[in-house]
Amino acid sequence: MNTTVTVSNIFKSFGKVVAINGLSFEVREGEIVGLLGPNGAGKTTTVRIISTIIKPDKGEVTVSGFNVVTNPKEVRNEIGVVFENANLYEKLSVADNLQFFGELHGLRAFDLKQRIFELLELFGLKERARDKVATLSKGMKQKLSIAIALVHNPKILILDEPTSGLDVPSARSLRDMIKRIVKEKRKSVILCTHNMLEAQYLSDRIVLMNKGKKVVEGTPEELEKMSGVENLEEVFLHLIKE
Ligand SMILES: Nc1ncnc2c1ncn2[C@@H]1O[C@H](COP(=O)(O)OP(=O)(O)O)[C@@H](O)[C@H]1O
Ligand SMILES: [Mg+2]
Repeated sequence: MNTTVTVSNIFKSFGKVVAINGLSFEVREGEIVGLLGPNGAGKTTTVRIISTIIKPDKGEVTVSGFNVVTNPKEVRNEIGVVFENANLYEKLSVADNLQFFGELHGLRAFDLKQRIFELLELFGLKERARDKVATLSKGMKQKLSIAIALVHNPKILILDEPTSGLDVPSARSLRDMIKRIVKEKRKSVILCTHNMLEAQYLSDRIVLMNKGKKVVEGTPEELEKMSGVENLEEVFLHLIKE
């Protein structure tokens, strides 16, 4: 399997705060990698570096072979990103939000129309296409944010705490949707979460982070076996304690 994202020994500090302290991992084609860790572990900083929003102090990151520092434009073409505070235009309709972001990506009118139709269908938003975003539930807004991230058909999807703030049924529905769509569309995914059950449910592989470093990496099953307990939550608490 080909590698789509390579993070090699990166470091990032904000003043005296060391956010990333020598982190390496890879994401292969079609794989969902969960970046799991407690608050402050460095997950968001890591995906901000991968998304070319900030630069690493040291180390190298490539996306589909493009270096994030020297080829940010090419990198941005390869990825779709959903950060925690979704950037939606509340006064515009669902379809017009997709239209707006599609145009930002320079999609041609005909392609974009097709694409919007497909995404509305895929995310169960067809009935709400003409409604203002302000009238949507939080879960639906989150679905729309992911649809927008996919509007230019990127190979890689980055999701930062996608279900935070959602109630249990909405979170469940969103997770099921993420899993179905990324497998169906063969996307590679980086999922940042502090929620162990979410990482366990969605990830093919988990990179457990703490204090800007990788603590351990493996499939959810491997991580469970490694510490001889059945629940990843135990592994998580156990490793963070050490
Ligand atoms: N822009 C910033 N300025 C100062 N400190 C920051 C900034 N961004 C992140 N940090 C710090 O870096 C560390 C890692 O943060 P972050 O990557 O947001 O962690 P996570 O997403 O895992 O909760 C934290 O200590 C946080 O306070
Ligand atoms: Mg974060």
